[in-house]
Amino acid sequence: MAELHSIINGINFKNPVMPAAGPNVKTAALMLSAAELGAGAVVSKTFSTVPASDPRPTIKKTVAGGLLNCETWLEDSYENFFDELRQLSALDVPLIVSIGYSPEDVKLLGRLLEEEIKPDVIEFSTHYTGHGIGPLIEVAESLKSTVSVPVWMKVSPGFPLLEELVKEAEPIVDAFVAVNSFGPALDFDPVKCRPSLGSAWGQGWLSGPPLMPIALGIVCSLSRIVRKPIIGVGGITTGEDAVKFIMAGASLVQVCTAAIKEGPSAYGRIAGEINSWLDENGFADIGEIKGKYTINL
Ligand SMILES: Cc1cc2nc3c(=O)[nH]c(=O)nc-3n(C[C@H](O)[C@H](O)[C@H](O)COP(=O)(O)O)c2cc1C
Repeated sequence: MAELHSIINGINFKNPVMPAAGPNVKTAALMLSAAELGAGAVVSKTFSTVPASDPRPTIKKTVAGGLLNCETWLEDSYENFFDELRQLSALDVPLIVSIGYSPEDVKLLGRLLEEEIKPDVIEFSTHYTGHGIGPLIEVAESLKSTVSVPVWMKVSPGFPLLEELVKEAEPIVDAFVAVNSFGPALDFDPVKCRPSLGSAWGQGWLSGPPLMPIALGIVCSLSRIVRKPIIGVGGITTGEDAVKFIMAGASLVQVCTAAIKEGPSAYGRIAGEINSWLDENGFADIGEIKGKYTINL
């Protein structure tokens, strides 16, 4: 059995696979199942100071095993979600809590999380904060100046100046999560010729296998320009997919769409498949493949 353990931001991860923020982790029960079924850490659904109100339908299947969604953040109050997070006190893997979106939102939620929940990491989503680098740096500074735990910045693949953003953010944050879903994307039934999602024009965000080459490309580019750890996410369905992200420079990986389809057993299954892949290919420790692709270039 190969060694999957790693230490990132001073935190022990028994294996590199964890959920990505999404409907797969919107309750304490789902997060606890993720850990029980073998995830190396648990990430929560993103929440903010006000509940979201998502149009229906919110999720539809699209080509090549992908999903389109117009789900934003948690459709419940942060007070109610804190009650869910309190049920995770016995969790035996690191807890990463995902929040958004303005400097004021993350300051308030960051302070309350440290006082009441004590997560291992706070991740913030940049998905709905706008397209300028300045506002995102302001959010990063606001959260970092409020909390003592590591702060992870989750970046979106459509952001026009992604490399400039991570260069400016690197001195502030502790790691990058790359990437969120890609959009605006569209699919629909041509016979009905009507939107399949409830959003404006039926457009949404693409996730799952069709996103993987885009996400992998971004992880590879970012790993060549930042030294802080990168958590790879986008289309990971198998252990071999995860191996590619780690070879492209990721330290850990996150999984959303595969877990929406399969349930929380996906994380432990993928971790087991990474282990088998390492054994079959003659590696004793996951550290041996970290950045192997980029180093070979
Ligand atoms: C239905 C749905 C809801 C999502 N909600 C969030 C969210 O609340 N916060 C966030 O940062 N990312 C969210 N995401 C993006 C995922 O965390 C992930 O970055 C993206 O889907 C790519 O990974 P995947 O291909 O494994 O799904 C969501 C994705 C889906 C499909």
